Amino acid sequence: MSRILITSALPYINGIKHLGNLAGSMLPSDVFARFQRAQGHETLFICATDEHGTPAELAAAAAGQDVATYCTEQHQIQADIAKRFDLSFDWFGRSSSPQNRALTQHFAEMLEKNELIEERVDQMIYSITDKRFLPDRYVEGTCPKCAFEKARGDQCDNCGALLDPTDLINPYSTISGSREIEVRDTRHLYLLQTKMADKLRVWIEQRQGWPQLARSIALKHLDEGLIDRGITRDLAWGVPVARDGVARPGFEDKVFYVWFDAPIEYIAATQEWADATGGDWRRWWLPAKPEDVKYVQIMGKDNVAFHTVSFPATLLGSSEPWKQVDTLKAFNWLNWYGGKFSTSGRRGVFMDAALELLPSDLWRWYLIANAPEGSDTAFTWEQFQSAVNRDLADVLGNFVNRILKFNEAKFGGVVPEGGELGELEFELARNLSAQIDDIATNLDQLEFRKAAQGLRALWVLGNEYLQVAAPWTVIKTDPDKAAMIVRTAINLVGLYAKVSSPFIPATATLMAKAVGLEDEKTWPSSGQNWMSLLLDALPRGQAVTVPDVLFKKIEDEQVAEWTARFGGSDAA
Ligand code: MF3
Ligand code: ZN
Repeated sequence: MSRILITSALPYINGIKHLGNLAGSMLPSDVFARFQRAQGHETLFICATDEHGTPAELAAAAAGQDVATYCTEQHQIQADIAKRFDLSFDWFGRSSSPQNRALTQHFAEMLEKNELIEERVDQMIYSITDKRFLPDRYVEGTCPKCAFEKARGDQCDNCGALLDPTDLINPYSTISGSREIEVRDTRHLYLLQTKMADKLRVWIEQRQGWPQLARSIALKHLDEGLIDRGITRDLAWGVPVARDGVARPGFEDKVFYVWFDAPIEYIAATQEWADATGGDWRRWWLPAKPEDVKYVQIMGKDNVAFHTVSFPATLLGSSEPWKQVDTLKAFNWLNWYGGKFSTSGRRGVFMDAALELLPSDLWRWYLIANAPEGSDTAFTWEQFQSAVNRDLADVLGNFVNRILKFNEAKFGGVVPEGGELGELEFELARNLSAQIDDIATNLDQLEFRKAAQGLRALWVLGNEYLQVAAPWTVIKTDPDKAAMIVRTAINLVGLYAKVSSPFIPATATLMAKAVGLEDEKTWPSSGQNWMSLLLDALPRGQAVTVPDVLFKKIEDEQVAEWTARFGGSDAA
């Protein structure tokens, strides 16, 4: 059994993340991590804040704070919200850590030793008004590929092209808005990706079982031809271009590019985890055999190029045996109605506001059941309401409350004794078992929407069973049989706790507690005696309680209020 390493794309430090960020990386990674742990795999789930570069500097400036203080505060805020969303990171690191500084400098050294880094005099955009160079997001302009007018210096948000600031047509400074701009010479380090193109293509083509979206984006970038990329910037905040604490001559005022050090933080965050817990980071990143670890990366589609080209180039180019990604899962966009969520424009619902409205499981369920997998999808309050009311309240919540209340009224709130399982229960067990295998297969393949559909179908099986078995009628003529039916349904609550736990962990814990189940974080076993394991696992006579209503329905008035408050509408 191999061990599973999972990394979620690292959220930028520049403020609380919106639901689109959550849906496209952190949440699915968490569901996957919880599922792998439930299956008994040794699992390490790593995330961190991405703290360098222009996004951090710009946000700190807007907040009127120095950037280090800003990052420390925002990291704490994001860590706290992640916890409240039950994101079960084994470590939530910081790309500004000493570990990442050392490791980033180490990679640069190895790449240079292998003649894959070169110093070049480069032409960069200089703002006369601001008296400084304008790297990446400090400059915006028209995209040379698609003519989008607000393309950033590092990437066009419209077509996804990776850009250099000098590619932009009609550039302006995002600090002052000034177009008083000239191109000046400055010295930078370049990563010679062109030298590695063949190696990278072989590497990508050898990857088996990559989901389609990731593979096609990777090959598209290779086909368009790799370019040598500048990996340093004229900025103050970041990993210094230095070795053993001594700046590289001519690079005293420069740092590594944020996209050079950010993915390295996957490894460095594992070192942070190891330093804090006594864990062994080498076991994950430098395993004896690559197949000892299965490494899964999850991210939004705009991140794919960096993970299929730049980061693999760093790792391959080091000529050290670093673990490379095995499966890369990319998500499309979750949009906010007809437009985009926007961090800078505060457009959409953000993670903190979401938790003020409703418990995390409701959001988790909606966002996984409607994950932007096959295509971009749009958040709407109506869809959200329907997912909560129809799936969670009507199907799962109703089942749990109905049977546990009935049990309290008729069987004294314990798991009833009573008769043996019959034909109907055999059939139920067969259906459950097939359905659970289906959910597991989809989760293993990172097909989150299908897995959620499967889970809903599993809940429906319970409702259908109760409908047909009708213990409230049977009890009048055959109390023993009614007791067996109720016992079976109570066992279903326990089973649902286990299978639902990766998706809606807080509710799963409540359900488990209600029926006295201790291990809702283990996937139901389908080994020997699977039928009694599924339907007769809880000790008879064990106390069962009725939890508060698991899911309150969302009323139309609430939808109206939130629509007004968050500006949910099709206007972009
Ligand atoms: N912060 C980036 C984003 O939100 C993702 C960084 S992923 C990493 O788009 F690999 F670089 F860490
Ligand atoms: Zn473009």
